[in-house]
Amino acid sequence: MIILLKPIFFFLCFFFYTPFSVSSTPPTEISALKSFKSSIKPSSIPPYSCIGSWVFSSDPCSNPKTIHFLCGLTCDDSNRVVSITLDSVGYSGTLTPLVSQLSQLVVLDLGQNSFYGTIPPSISSLSLLQTISFRFNSFSGSIPSSIGQLKSLQDLDFSGNSLSGQLPNTLFLLSRLTRLDLSFNKFSGQLPKLPLNLLELAIKGNSLSGLITKFSFTGLTQLETVELSSNSFSGVLQSWFFQLPSLQQINLSNNSLTGVEIWKPSQGYNELVAVDLGFNKIEGYLSVNFTNYPVLASLSLRYNRLRGPIPLEYCKKSSLRRLFLDGNYLSGSPPAGFFTSGGKYSTLSGSLGDNCLQGCPRKSQLCLPTQKPMSMCKQIYGGKKPRKF
Ligand SMILES: *[C@@H]1O[C@H](CO)[C@@H](O)[C@H](O)[C@H]1NC(C)=O
Ligand SMILES: *[C@@H]1O[C@H](CO)[C@@H](O)[C@H](O)[C@H]1NC(C)=O
Ligand SMILES: *[C@@H]1O[C@H](CO)[C@@H](O)[C@H](O)[C@H]1NC(C)=O
Repeated sequence: MIILLKPIFFFLCFFFYTPFSVSSTPPTEISALKSFKSSIKPSSIPPYSCIGSWVFSSDPCSNPKTIHFLCGLTCDDSNRVVSITLDSVGYSGTLTPLVSQLSQLVVLDLGQNSFYGTIPPSISSLSLLQTISFRFNSFSGSIPSSIGQLKSLQDLDFSGNSLSGQLPNTLFLLSRLTRLDLSFNKFSGQLPKLPLNLLELAIKGNSLSGLITKFSFTGLTQLETVELSSNSFSGVLQSWFFQLPSLQQINLSNNSLTGVEIWKPSQGYNELVAVDLGFNKIEGYLSVNFTNYPVLASLSLRYNRLRGPIPLEYCKKSSLRRLFLDGNYLSGSPPAGFFTSGGKYSTLSGSLGDNCLQGCPRKSQLCLPTQKPMSMCKQIYGGKKPRKF
């Protein structure tokens, strides 16, 4: 009986299992993958690379991954492509617009290759996409404004390309986005309204200009890191900025800011660890209010146009590890507490050099480089000797 039933059992199994066992990657996805590969110059595809193993005599998702499709893509249980994560071997080519046919795609990572051309607007239809990294390729043109449709996007990294133009106003529609890195491109114009759930914002090394406005940052209650150095931002950095409740690290060095307003932290607004505002055009006095941020460990205001004394509170601030105030017109005597040997401030590094300070002890590392010549300081202080404080 059992012997008789066995073939029937196998037959039934085969019959019912067939649609699943030979199920394969949908044709639209195969054609998208073929187009993806054929948009890359064959000469830039090493045989040992991931894309080198994309040989379409096998099914991309369902073949046993021992000969072909060894890496570079993953599929889900229904043989749909969910991620493309390329190796960095110097693939050179364009990104096919047909990538939009991979409708279950969650991750698209082409990082550190040589993709060029424009970013196809069709990627905006990939509604499940959570991570895009095109970092360090050669993409050019602007970011398609349809990007705002990527409702699932959490991590967007276009850093290190040749993208240009204004940042799209639709960026703020990316309501799940927590990390945005557009550093080292050629973006210009003003900072648009930013997505509300950002934790990390990095757009360093571009040509953004105008003011840092409340309009861009309102509601960004989770923002921890702001990296906007080496742009052309101007005007006064206003006090609301430092009140963003989760802010920890700010780098706005190498811009054209002319002033900085900082208030004492409000209750609960006190996570600020590092502030770099060096190489701007900041005028006015050094505010004592920085010292009211309880965990501030690193402050740079080097190479600005600050004048007046260094408030005593700076040498009493025990959380401070790095203090760069060199290259300003600070005057008076630096607080003696900076130089008490063996004291708890001996761990402070940085510089008070290249100012108009008097009596900065030469033997202290903090006093290097030497102060400005008296003649330059006199000029700045309207011919008067810098006031002694
Ligand atoms: C300052 O920014 C300019 C572009 O605005 C850039 O060319 C230069 O390398 C930057 N300097 C530093 C020290 O980062
Ligand atoms: C701020 O950015 C500049 C330029 O990118 C960099 O040289 C500097 O080290 C950064 N500051 C801090 C505190 O990391
Ligand atoms: C310090 O902050 C307070 C508000 O907390 C403000 O009124 C005052 O002007 C600030 N002082 C300086 C020197 O910036």
